Amino acid sequence: MGLVKMGNVIILGSQWGDEGKGKIVDLFSGQFDIVARYQGGHNAGHTVFIGEKKYVLKLIPSGILRPGKKAVIGNGVVIDPAALFAEMDMLQSAGVEVMGNLFVSNRAHVVFPVHRLMEKMSEGRPGRIAIGTTGRGIGPCYEDKTGRRGIRIADLLNTEFFRAQYDSVMEEKVTIAKALGIYEEIDFCGIRDEYEVFAARLRPMVCDTSVLLNQAILDGKKVLFEGAQGTMLDVDHGTYPFVTSSSASAGGACTGTGVAPTRISGVIGVSKAYITRVGAGPFPTEALDGAGDRIRQRGNEFGSVTGRPRRCGWFDVPLMRYTATINGFDSLVVTKLDVLDEFDKIQVCVGYRSGKQEITGMPATVAEVEKIEPVYECMPGWGTPTFGISNYDELPAKAKDYLAFLESRTGVEVGCISTGPERNQTIVRSGSRFEKLIT
Ligand code: GDP
Ligand code: IMO
Ligand code: MG
Repeated sequence: MGLVKMGNVIILGSQWGDEGKGKIVDLFSGQFDIVARYQGGHNAGHTVFIGEKKYVLKLIPSGILRPGKKAVIGNGVVIDPAALFAEMDMLQSAGVEVMGNLFVSNRAHVVFPVHRLMEKMSEGRPGRIAIGTTGRGIGPCYEDKTGRRGIRIADLLNTEFFRAQYDSVMEEKVTIAKALGIYEEIDFCGIRDEYEVFAARLRPMVCDTSVLLNQAILDGKKVLFEGAQGTMLDVDHGTYPFVTSSSASAGGACTGTGVAPTRISGVIGVSKAYITRVGAGPFPTEALDGAGDRIRQRGNEFGSVTGRPRRCGWFDVPLMRYTATINGFDSLVVTKLDVLDEFDKIQVCVGYRSGKQEITGMPATVAEVEKIEPVYECMPGWGTPTFGISNYDELPAKAKDYLAFLESRTGVEVGCISTGPERNQTIVRSGSRFEKLIT
C-alpha cells in the first residue's frame, strides 16, 4: 500500500459519558470529509445546538448536520432500526439531508424488542445491584453478538436467511425463558414481519463501510471517529460491571469500523471541567453535598436519553491520567468551564488514598474503587462569567490557572475549551497539538 496522507482523528469521552462530544464533533466535522460512529447504540445522546435549534443525536454521527459530509454507522454499533428511523425522520423534518449522506455497516448488529425485555429482566432480578442502564436493549444485543448468535444488518437484508436465523435465535430464547420460569408471551412473528419492512427502508444505506472508509482514506479524505459513552464506561477499561457493553475507548474505533490503527493520526479526549455519571457504580469524586446540586443546576445535568439527574462531582486527575493512558490522548477538550463560574472554591482530586495507603493507578474492582478517598487540592474560583468566551486571552486569570493546573497534573495539553453549548462558544489554543490535528 502506498503512502497514505492522513488526518484521521478519534474524538471520545474521557470520563463517564456526556462530556460534550456531540458539540465538539459537530463543531470540527467541517474540517473532515466523513464522521464515523464506532460503538454503542441509541443509549448515547449527543446534543448539538445550532443557533436556537437543538438536536439530540443517538445513533447517527453528529457530522450529519454539516451539509455534504458523509456519516457512517460502523460495524461496532448496534442498531435498533425503529430508533434509527425516528432519528432520520427528526433530522429530515428539520431540513437535514440524510439519504445519500448516511451509510450503515452491513456487519452492524440489530437490536430487537426481546433485547429490551432481557435487559429489564436482568436489571430487575431480585438480589442484583442494577447497573441503571438506559433500557434500550444494548447490553443483551452485544451479548448475542459475542455469543455468536446475533443477527446483523446483512442478515436482515437476506429475507430467507433472516427468517430461519430469527426463528432459531428466538426459539433458543423461549426455551431458556421457559426453563427459568420467566417466559412472557411475545408476538415473535409480528416482530419478524415488522423487521422485514425495516429491512426495505435500510437497504439503500447499507454497504461495507470498512471498504468505504479505507477507500476514502486512500483517496486522501479525512475521517473523524466519534466515540459514544466514555472510557470509564468501556466494557474492558471502565468500572466493570457498571459499564456499557462496548469498547468506548480509542481501540474501539479500529475494531468498530475496520480501519487500521496505522491510519489514525491522533486521539482527542473530551472532558468536563468537572465530572458526572448517570446510573449506578463507583464514583470517587462525587459531590454529595450542596456543591453537587449546584453543578447539576448550573450545568443542567440531566440525561439527554433518559432525563435522569446526573450525579455530579469534581475533576478527577488520577482518573484522567488513567483514561489518557488507555487512549493515548494527544490533547484534551475541556467543556462546560462556564458551569464553574460562580464557585468561590473549586476542588480538584489530585490523588487517591485508602486509609494511610496511597493508591496508584485505577483499581480493577468496584470494591477497591469504592474504598478510594480522594485527595483534594482547592483552587480559587474566578467569579466572573466565562460563558461564551471564544478568545483564550479574554478568560479570567484564575480560569487560566485552573486549566493550567489540570494540564500540568494530567500531563495532557488542554487544546480546546468550551464555554457554552453553541458552536461559537469555543476556544482553540493556538499552537496546540489540537489545532494541528483538527485544522
Ligand atoms: P455527549 O453525550 O458527550 O455529546 O454530551 P451530552 O449532549 O449528553 O451532554 C452535554 C450537555 O452539555 C449538552 O446539553 C450540551 O449542549 C451541553 N454543553 C456542551 N458544552 C457545553 C459548554 O461548554 N457549556 C455549557 N454550559 N453547556 C455545554
Ligand atoms: P453518551 O454517548 C452517559 C450508562 C448508563 C448505565 C451504563 C450502562 O451520551 O455519552 P447501557 O444502556 O449502555 O447498557 O447502560 O452506561 N450510559 C451512559 N452514560 N452517557 C452515555 O452516552 C451513556 N450510555 C450509557 O447510564 O450507567
Ligand atoms: Mg450524552
